[in-house]
Amino acid sequence: MSSIAVIGGGYVGLTTAACFAHLGHDVVCGDNDAERVRSLSKGEVPVLEEGLPELVAAGLASRRLSFVLTAAAAAKTAEFVFLCVPTPQGENGAADLSIVEAVAREIAPVLRPESVVVNKSTVPIGSADLVERLLNENGAVPGTIGVASNPEFLREGSAVRDFLEPHRVVIGCKDTEVAVRVSELYRDLRAPILVTDAASAEMIKYASNAFLATKISFINQVANLCEEVSADVREVALGMGYDPRIGFEFLHAGPGYGGSCFPKDVQALLYSAQTVGYDFQLLRSVHDVNQIQHDRMVEKIANAAGGSLDGATIAVWGLTFKANTDDLRDSPALAIARRLIDGGATVRAYDPAAGERAAGLVPGLEVVSDPYEACDGADVLTVLTEWDELRWLDFERVGAAMRQRRIVDARNLLDPAAMRQRSFAYEGVGR
Ligand code: UDX
Repeated sequence: MSSIAVIGGGYVGLTTAACFAHLGHDVVCGDNDAERVRSLSKGEVPVLEEGLPELVAAGLASRRLSFVLTAAAAAKTAEFVFLCVPTPQGENGAADLSIVEAVAREIAPVLRPESVVVNKSTVPIGSADLVERLLNENGAVPGTIGVASNPEFLREGSAVRDFLEPHRVVIGCKDTEVAVRVSELYRDLRAPILVTDAASAEMIKYASNAFLATKISFINQVANLCEEVSADVREVALGMGYDPRIGFEFLHAGPGYGGSCFPKDVQALLYSAQTVGYDFQLLRSVHDVNQIQHDRMVEKIANAAGGSLDGATIAVWGLTFKANTDDLRDSPALAIARRLIDGGATVRAYDPAAGERAAGLVPGLEVVSDPYEACDGADVLTVLTEWDELRWLDFERVGAAMRQRRIVDARNLLDPAAMRQRSFAYEGVGR
């Protein structure tokens, strides 16, 4: 078993640290937020992630997992140092590498000879070379430290399962011996391991997310066309999905993709293409279509409200960027709520996981802790996140609370026939 440092205690870092400890490795997770380190050391997990609190608790109890302040403190005795720090969207859509760079500078002087720095943060193609250069310039003995890229493919909400049952493990490194050492960390997982060069590994991450985003924009445009020709996009997606070359997943039409990855990674790949003079036309459209999809939802809601948002009361169900997470980053629901308020509507929202925090992010947004209360006096109810629990509410009670029985279901969550039977004017996406 190996000693591993994980730098960054966010979604990716914490999942990586807890899962490696679960696999039997000795893991120290370093973060520069003292409060976070304190609460993680007590087993308090700050994110909603299925199975993660249990793994953190088990890791702390077995002493295979600990949390320390600073990257250097975590890295100094480790054989492997995993960088799991944010690469937020910077200027012109470029990925902002300043945190990765700062960590590389910080850990360089303390790294053990023969240790390996593994980049799990989503970084532009060529970043492995940058990390290696920064390590060498800041005190690492050149030639003694390995650098590898090992992108993550973790979905929020199922990150633990995605880590422990991956579809593949990708390791990018110019030194095969180093790549083999990294691959051994994953040997208990039954997954194909792809060893390649670092640039290809970095591209695999971006291309995978860009492809999934493309699938979503594609099905959203098919949905919009379905509305014009009276077809049902859900049936269409099902009929397409049986073809294994297409598959069933990522063909749910909705308000457009959001979250901490797709919007940022699409922009970053576009920026990378632009810097080498390549026009990635298809991906530009994927992004544009996603923006337009938000607009269409706002239009649908305005139409349902009688043509204008001004003076209307809109109930919103769901604020997170998707269900089963409390993450509000780049949430289409928040973008749409903002637009409704700008249009003059009163917006009262309910979200099972992130209501209170959302109120601070959207000026004028009223957040309540009960889905029925959100519907009080509403002209339109709109479903913006596909929380399963919303399906099973008492729609008689919902209708009785509303001023008018109108639903815009931006996630195709509810059953149109059942809603119409209860005298709701129901509109989904592409059906
Ligand atoms: C994504 C990738 O799936 C993961 O591999 C990567 O490492 C990080 O980014 P995540 O951001 O957690 O994971 O969410 P995901 O489940 O992929 O959904 C992203 C967005 O697309 C959400 O807003 C979701 O609602 C939307 N989506 C997804 C659709 O609109 N339709 C779909 O069919 C699937």
